[in-house]
Amino acid sequence: MKFPKNFIWGAAAAAYQIEGAYNEDGKGLNIWDIYSKDPGRIAHGENGDIACDHYHRFKEDIKLMKEIGIKHYRLSLNWTRIIPDGTGEVNQKGVDFYNQLLDTLIENEIEPMVTLFHWDYPYELHCKGGWLSREASDWFENYAKTCTELFSDKVKYWMTINEPQVFVGLGYYSGLHAPFYKLCKTDLMRMTHNILLSHGKAVRAIRKYAKQPPIIGFAPTGPCVTPENETKDSIEIARQQSFEFSENGYVFSNSWWGDPIVFGKYNDKAFELFGDSLKPLIKDGDMEIISAPIDFYGANIYSSSSVGITNGYPSNEYIGCPRTAVEWVVTDDALYWATKFLNERYKLPILITENGMACHDWVHLDGKVHDPNRIDYTARYLKGLKRATSENIDVMGYLYWSILDNFEWNSGYDKRFGLIYVDYQTQKRTIKDSGYWFGNVIKNNGENI
Ligand code: BG6
Repeated sequence: MKFPKNFIWGAAAAAYQIEGAYNEDGKGLNIWDIYSKDPGRIAHGENGDIACDHYHRFKEDIKLMKEIGIKHYRLSLNWTRIIPDGTGEVNQKGVDFYNQLLDTLIENEIEPMVTLFHWDYPYELHCKGGWLSREASDWFENYAKTCTELFSDKVKYWMTINEPQVFVGLGYYSGLHAPFYKLCKTDLMRMTHNILLSHGKAVRAIRKYAKQPPIIGFAPTGPCVTPENETKDSIEIARQQSFEFSENGYVFSNSWWGDPIVFGKYNDKAFELFGDSLKPLIKDGDMEIISAPIDFYGANIYSSSSVGITNGYPSNEYIGCPRTAVEWVVTDDALYWATKFLNERYKLPILITENGMACHDWVHLDGKVHDPNRIDYTARYLKGLKRATSENIDVMGYLYWSILDNFEWNSGYDKRFGLIYVDYQTQKRTIKDSGYWFGNVIKNNGENI
């Protein structure tokens, strides 16, 4: 079993979770800047105002990436650093920051892979209706065009949107993420359609304005169901369940988003369940825009559930089994089944845009951060991925989440996913054992997995 020769190895992070400098150098505010300060929303009353101070320390961070041996780095652009109000004037200082960041990556032979939107929505646009407004897709298209014009001489890999499932599901449905809303189904549906349109228009803009042939995808997540055993029947059930959705959980599903984007039509079940509210939203030409061809299908995968556990994430059936610090069950073969099912359905190369583990890390008495659980978790998941590539499932690469410990949204700073430990009191960085281990995996193209 082996990984292909040109396999992409790297790590990921997102602007709001690491940059800090939330109001410096002309940056506008986004919904996380505003709503994370609403009392009781975020663990310990924390927020991303400073985070890892990556805005001021990116050179040091890139040096550490280089030391580890990272070859690809997935970062996100902070929309309001570039366009403070979301539309209108561009902030030159924000552009300068990203130019320096991208240049430093390239100088260090690290290929940047850029996500346009990783949840930090401009507050000004939110106040104009945000994703609920059909205009949202024009705002996003303009943002995508601006970024492409500004950075596509340096950037080849683009992702439009990170996890629509989670930012809609947690931000606008269950009220756990900014802006902490609980919208009704009709509004949610309008929102998802506008987000799909935004994605499509962004793909169109990147394709049109890129200064070098772009490689475009998006970075969704979704339920990953694995078979109980490898019989044909069990595999078939797992495959079906991986793309199913219910009246309540549809925003969290794979196919609500993936089908329109790849097939140019909503899943039949969508019309069965919500035909009356969905049909009027779809205007002439929308589905063509939404399904503007993409080059890869991203997948953020942390855990799976086994056939028979239909309520999404693992629960009682997994009593006493290994769990990460965010309670997710450790399920070794998740990457194998997820890449297999996604690739079979959507017939696009799959890029693991995120996978990783939150642990209870700290600096040990010897000054190092020993995190054997993370190493073991990652090795287990990579074994599954190696099986996939050995069976010729088209997988482009693997990006570990995350390069640095960071602000884990409503969990605050407690949950550490990084290959690099961050002491938030001093901003001192320490490469964890897993960082050195992962560097070795990269060096050997996963041979030791
Ligand atoms: C993904 C997100 O959901 O998983 C990341 O794209 C996030 O931004 C990561 O940090 C870890 O998840 P969580 O739910 O612990 O924040």
